[in-house]
Amino acid sequence: MSADLLARFRDRLRLPLIAAPMFLVSGVELAVAACRNGVIGSFPTVNCRETEQLDAWLGDIERRLQAHADANGKAAAPICPNLIVHRSNARLQQDLAVLLRHKVELVITSVGSPAPVLAPLHDAGALVFADVASIRHAERAVAAGADGLVLLTAGAGGQTGWLNPFVFVRAVRGFFDGPIVLAGGISDGHALRAAQALGCDLAYMGTKFIATRESMADARYKQMLVDSSADDILLTTAFTGLQTNMLRPSIEAAGLDPDDLPARGAIDIGKDIDIGARESRPKRWRDIWSGGHSTSGVTGVLGVDDLVAQTVAEYEAASARVQLA
Ligand SMILES: Cc1cc2nc3c(=O)[nH]c(=O)nc-3n(C[C@H](O)[C@H](O)[C@H](O)COP(=O)(O)O)c2cc1C
Repeated sequence: MSADLLARFRDRLRLPLIAAPMFLVSGVELAVAACRNGVIGSFPTVNCRETEQLDAWLGDIERRLQAHADANGKAAAPICPNLIVHRSNARLQQDLAVLLRHKVELVITSVGSPAPVLAPLHDAGALVFADVASIRHAERAVAAGADGLVLLTAGAGGQTGWLNPFVFVRAVRGFFDGPIVLAGGISDGHALRAAQALGCDLAYMGTKFIATRESMADARYKQMLVDSSADDILLTTAFTGLQTNMLRPSIEAAGLDPDDLPARGAIDIGKDIDIGARESRPKRWRDIWSGGHSTSGVTGVLGVDDLVAQTVAEYEAASARVQLA
């Protein structure tokens, strides 16, 4: 089943990779650059200020990917919007309607059950991958009819998982033979190859794509990733109430002590996710930055072309090494 579902994309992919959806980071430029390079491009729909802007973004992306296909005689990798299905997303139904109108091929749901959006997306021909962080949630998403699973594991950027990837993937493979995407810890092409050996069909790379020229991240954020390693990542519930991996230097720069943060969700910054809001208080995501353990793999700010070429070379070296072993 796994192979069948992904067959429709396979010859459009240069790597079994998704440029992960990231709040305030992934926009049109990053998504288009990923897809043109044969990597599935993604963005959370809440990165658009309102539903009308989502319509415009998708129109723009489709035009640019069509022009790329016309020039190259080959379709680009698919674009995969990310729907936050949590009840706090008041725009869910409007954003869903736009995705249906644009007939997107693939959607990733996160922060909740995919159940409410599965039927309309399936009717429109889209595949739906559900982002899950526990075996129980993986079982539930499969029972609800998700086509694929994104397994959020320990060390991921953003709101992270906690399970060890070796354990999580093998446990889910015990009851699910559909597409599995590994999220967390993919810092280069070697790790990507290892994810496939483990039983995954695809993997996310998030943090690595923050430090690209095409990402919407602040230049200081990109440089902080270059200057930091996995040792600089702090797992904390202080900012969002959920376990989130944050860059310690960004917490210090905001005048807070990473080793003495208040309790769960207690810091009253950035409670809203209105990306248009600008005020002087430091805000999580905008001023206090997130990175995964894969921060260790960020060695420079690259264009997406170069990051993908580098990852392909690493992936091929890892494949050759595994074959020799
Ligand atoms: C700054 C940032 C914002 C994120 N925002 C989202 C989001 O809006 N939706 C989502 O599903 N995942 C989000 N994530 C999680 C990523 O999609 C992905 O799971 C994670 O980056 C994978 O780990 P890696 O960074 O080590 O590659 C975010 C991650 C980061 C670093």
